[in-house]
Amino acid sequence: MSMTSADIRTAFLNFFAERGHQIVPSASLIPGNDATLLFTNAGMVPFKDVFLGTDKRNYTRATSSQRCVRAGGKHNDLENVGYTARHHTFFEMLGNFSFGDYFKKEAIDYAWAFLTDELGLPKEKLWVTVFEEDDEAYDIWANDIGVPRDRISRIGAKDNFWQMGDTGPCGPCSEIFYDHGPDVWGGPPGTPEEDGDRYIEIWNLVFMQFNRQADGTLEPLPKPSVDTGMGLERIAAVLQGVHSNYETDTFVHLIDAAARAVGCEDRSAQSLRVIADHIRSCSFLIADGVLPSNEGRGYVLRRIIRRAVRHGSKLGATEPFFHTLVAELVRLMGDAFPELVQAQARIEQALLQEEKQFARTLQRGLSLLEEAMTDLNEGDALSGEIAFKLYDTYGFPYDLTADILRERGFALDQAGFDAAMAEQRTRAQQASQFGADYNTRISADTVSEFRGYTDYESDAVIREIFVDGESVSTVPAGKDAIIVLDQTPFYAESGGQVGDIGVFEVEGEPVFVVNDTQYIGKAIAHHGRAESDLRVGDPVVALVDDERRWAIRRNHSATHLIHAALRNVLGEHVMQKGSLVDEQRLRFDFAHPQALTQAELLAIETQVNEQIRLNTPLTTAVLPIDEAKARGAMALFGEKYDDEVRVVEMGPYSLELCGGTHVERTGDIGSFRVLAEQGIASGVRRVEATTGANAVLYTQQQHQRLHAIANVLKSDPSAVSERIEQLLSRQKQLEKELAEFQRQLSQQAGANLTDSAETIGGQQVIIAEVTQVEGKALREMVDDLKNRLGEGIVVLGLRQEGKVSLIVGVTKGLTDKVKAGELVNVIAQKVGGKGGGRPDMAQAGGSEPEQLDTALATAKKWLQDKLAG
Ligand code: ALA
Repeated sequence: MSMTSADIRTAFLNFFAERGHQIVPSASLIPGNDATLLFTNAGMVPFKDVFLGTDKRNYTRATSSQRCVRAGGKHNDLENVGYTARHHTFFEMLGNFSFGDYFKKEAIDYAWAFLTDELGLPKEKLWVTVFEEDDEAYDIWANDIGVPRDRISRIGAKDNFWQMGDTGPCGPCSEIFYDHGPDVWGGPPGTPEEDGDRYIEIWNLVFMQFNRQADGTLEPLPKPSVDTGMGLERIAAVLQGVHSNYETDTFVHLIDAAARAVGCEDRSAQSLRVIADHIRSCSFLIADGVLPSNEGRGYVLRRIIRRAVRHGSKLGATEPFFHTLVAELVRLMGDAFPELVQAQARIEQALLQEEKQFARTLQRGLSLLEEAMTDLNEGDALSGEIAFKLYDTYGFPYDLTADILRERGFALDQAGFDAAMAEQRTRAQQASQFGADYNTRISADTVSEFRGYTDYESDAVIREIFVDGESVSTVPAGKDAIIVLDQTPFYAESGGQVGDIGVFEVEGEPVFVVNDTQYIGKAIAHHGRAESDLRVGDPVVALVDDERRWAIRRNHSATHLIHAALRNVLGEHVMQKGSLVDEQRLRFDFAHPQALTQAELLAIETQVNEQIRLNTPLTTAVLPIDEAKARGAMALFGEKYDDEVRVVEMGPYSLELCGGTHVERTGDIGSFRVLAEQGIASGVRRVEATTGANAVLYTQQQHQRLHAIANVLKSDPSAVSERIEQLLSRQKQLEKELAEFQRQLSQQAGANLTDSAETIGGQQVIIAEVTQVEGKALREMVDDLKNRLGEGIVVLGLRQEGKVSLIVGVTKGLTDKVKAGELVNVIAQKVGGKGGGRPDMAQAGGSEPEQLDTALATAKKWLQDKLAG
């Protein structure tokens, strides 16, 4: 039996542990505090700061099997997946690392010993490469290891200088290739056929020596180090004697599960490979807290899910299937990754939701695309505009459209797509720049100094005045205007916190009433109405409505507390998606796949109130962004921050980047109540809450309501629910009794009517007006009378609020002679209506109740005629 993937993982880690390496568990796919990287894309990512010398560990040698995603950003393999034997969106990287400990010689020795001694690979199947200028590595391979010179290639920087991203640790590298044999097409590294699948790179040894700066320059690392990476899937293929990673144990099982799920017989279908690959990246990304969305990491995840779903539907899947594969993945990889087991339900739910959502648009988008493709000739490109429409209206990621086109031999006009996208962005920006600002444009040089972190009141000078969007030098009393001051305590709406209101005064008299404060560019713009004539250059005293601002401060600080509490109670995947803070309440939107339970909401409310009682002092500081992130400040991914940022800290409980205004100590918040929780978009929840006097008021109102209810129920507040239960069960009992009573009544009525039956032409006939029966009961009554008669005819009329209903029933044996539909139609005409129905039962309505007697008399006459013969 060849080694399974799990065996290989264990053998690798043990080999290096025996050589003094610390085994370090795989880190999350979301790099901690590193906004330069979309995903953990190599084994060295969790050690980046150790290489840079800014973090110290108590070991200098480490080994790991790190989960990696290469989709989006640098090192993006998404589009190749399914089309080559060895590219994946998700893979495991086996690595050994030296942090200023050993360097090239040992790194090469270890790798060779592991491959040839431990795994027993034949030496003649291995090829190596070195960076073209790296004689040292060349000599080690040629002289110390003894690899024949014709199997060592010198390669340029494109392939043999490795770097993590556009910035960060990097260095020359040396790669080891495995020759899958002449049956497979391809050539050795450095030859024109190198892209074939014959010679496959299995291990990359990076000699980390530099830190690439944003301007491209290389700064030496404190100490030369080693970072190696071997794809577990590739080495598994080698050891299991197969040529494609998709034929290794893990993938065979996943492909099997996928084939069963979509009902596909052909296990070699390319689409099955895509699905088997994608279920791994999607599941691990969700386990690590990413949810499908339209931006950043969430959008990459959405693209991968949609690509998988589309390939499933290509194979014939008509129902959501992708989420059903999670169970098999957990079975295969759960032992090595316990976090996957824990997250199983969450992953399945998020996938199912996205599958359903995408299914709704997929069909419509596909038919649009099909139609567009009929106009194309082999090799033509689809217009960027159509691709953009598919993206914008039908949720088709760019690479999905490209993928479909590629399968059919068409290309895609990327430049056209980019142009359409850029145009839409500009439109959106313009829309947001102008709407809110009343079309006022302020020069970018106008900057106001904000004094409101410490002061509610400030002396100031009017710098600019705008009326109807035009810059003016004066504004008369009574007119609306926007005023910019040199300095101001007024907070302009930003970061979810609403703008301040207040007043400008001169000698204690109000001269301008501020009803909103907004940024226009970098200027703080006070929107309001002049109470006196004002001119540019006038000195004023700017006064913020401090009571309102205090309520806003409480709500804003409570927003930070609820953010931390949500992450504590629900998990680290809770990412802020938006917030709104005003004087009444706070609103916080965040990523979470399902509704919160009452217990979760209570736990959150309790935790926030505990923090309030701790009365922790708040501290704020302005720090370089890197330092803030290094300290673990929560920031929004993809958000652009300045180099210097403000951090707001509440003891060890909360640390966030924030420009808002806050309380001095958590105790100032007073109290906190959650008001509501709801879903607002796929995978996004919203909680609303309130603080301070509003929270007390809310509690009092709830209490009053409860008392009022108790009063009405003549009960005690503590016994209200029992009392309601009693009442409901009493009501049920009464309804039952009432129904029984009505049944008896109508039986009685039926018996009376039967007694009144007359004989016409030898048949028993009941013709009568009834009262207090309706709809269904009327029909039941007719059935009941028919049963009682055995054979006969029933004609009933009912008057009701200006209307009249007629119903005729004929027992089966008589329908040859008398058709109920015919009779009801005849008599309906007498009451101004018409009707019809089956031969044995027919109904009609009319609008002249006063004619009911005539109608009934007509029925009698009609029957006499009909039955006479
Ligand atoms: N970090 C190196 C790579 O990813 C080992 O290839």
